[in-house]
Amino acid sequence: MFFRSSKKPPTPSSYSSLGTDLHSHLIPGIDDGVRTLEESLTLIRRLVEMGYKKIITTPHVMADHYPNTRERILEGKEAVLEGLKGPDGYRGEGIEFDVAAEYFLDENFERLLQEEDLLTLPGNRVLIEMAGVAPASNLHDLLFRMQTKGYKPLLAHPERYPYYTRDFNAVERLKEYGCEFQLNLLSLTGHYGTTVRDQAFKLLKKGLIDFLGTDMHHEQHADKLKEALSDRKVRKVLEGTRFKNAGL
Ligand SMILES: [Fe+2]
Repeated sequence: MFFRSSKKPPTPSSYSSLGTDLHSHLIPGIDDGVRTLEESLTLIRRLVEMGYKKIITTPHVMADHYPNTRERILEGKEAVLEGLKGPDGYRGEGIEFDVAAEYFLDENFERLLQEEDLLTLPGNRVLIEMAGVAPASNLHDLLFRMQTKGYKPLLAHPERYPYYTRDFNAVERLKEYGCEFQLNLLSLTGHYGTTVRDQAFKLLKKGLIDFLGTDMHHEQHADKLKEALSDRKVRKVLEGTRFKNAGL
């Protein structure tokens, strides 16, 4: 005989079920994320305290604002790794730290795709983002070209683009073009507004989200992420959905 247990699943007090965070801005001084090594180490510590085991940080690569190169990002990674070895500061025991990038789909990206090796997440995934006013005009073509080069496109925070809120079919269609989706955890709390929150839950409900990410830029984000662990709806998502983060 079977009895249905009345016990609720355990409440997550951390993000440990995700294991890996694959979207953040923790290389000092190269984008709108952390400005100093000290800040970087502080945020790494905060992520470890929240249960993450691996951090793959993703500085912006955006010709107009953050013209970061592969070399600059890799140098930044070395500086952070050195910092983690520092004699006095936080040493990040048990954390794996790596870099990829968040590529803005501009003309520079097309050139990079043509001429260079992109910085990738595991599985040859490339984290991409677009402007808030309109999607890249040649988006479908770019997604196709990325895949012919062996990359797997992963769109950052699809819930934050107003044009996809207005046209849900258009965002659903990106999946048919081989694009994976990464949702920002703080979108679930209303941090970016109620419209973004509603769109985030709609995408989740339809099973379209592959990864959750922090998109952490500064310490307020760390505070909000910690708070989010006591949010009933966030906990339900963490308890009830399997994301691909754990497999990275
Ligand atoms: Fe980001």
